[in-house]
Amino acid sequence: MRKKIIIGNWKMHKNMKETQEFINEFKNLINNKKTTCDYGIAASFTNLNIFKENNLKDFIIAAQNCHFEKQGAFTGEISTNMLEELNVSHVIIGHSERRQYFNETDETINKKLMWIFSQSQIVPVLCCGESLAQYEANQTKSVITQQVTAALKGINSKDASKLVIAYEPIWAIGTGKTATVAQAQEACLEIRKVLTKLYDEKTANSIRIQYGGSVKPDNVKDLLAQPDIDGALVGGASLQVTDFINLLI
Ligand code: PGA
Repeated sequence: MRKKIIIGNWKMHKNMKETQEFINEFKNLINNKKTTCDYGIAASFTNLNIFKENNLKDFIIAAQNCHFEKQGAFTGEISTNMLEELNVSHVIIGHSERRQYFNETDETINKKLMWIFSQSQIVPVLCCGESLAQYEANQTKSVITQQVTAALKGINSKDASKLVIAYEPIWAIGTGKTATVAQAQEACLEIRKVLTKLYDEKTANSIRIQYGGSVKPDNVKDLLAQPDIDGALVGGASLQVTDFINLLI
């Protein structure tokens, strides 16, 4: 049985004061909540140390990006070493906003995964998903197959089995338009089939596949009840503490 994993993606939201306020409220509310899932937040770099210092129990501290070199003249970038100093255990790689606005390609995403697996203990959360035009052209399966295959080029099955993959149809991100439970399940199953082809059934079955795109407290349970949906990557609904707590199952 794969343990469900729910990660809030704060994107470029919240300053340090707001982050501490969120954590204070979270500490009060989480005690009364029974959960069986893994959970955490992917925060801005400037807020990661706040999560570290608050030392929340069993809480995943995640980053939203990292570079594929140890160090060097890469203005504006951050290394896995720097993230590990902040107790970061997961990092989002290849989010569609990074692909769309910051020119991330399948090649750079592959380089990042190679680097992370060879040089750190951090778990990559690899994002994939089709655009609205691709969705309308019935290309969902071919797009995610291509993205996942290219991202995992040269990655062995031992490393791949540690991965988290997030299927996020771009047309559902921040739009309030969620994929139907059946669409989300079908795409996540397709990813598992691709993983089976690239590796084997055992590896494919050990990889957790999240759905992302307008996940809210009122649709999370149905989505996560699907056999191939092992969690959620949640933007908007992770920003309010009560919503975030209500997402946890
Ligand atoms: P959303 O964002 O939940 O606000 O749609 C999801 C994401 O981009 O990870």
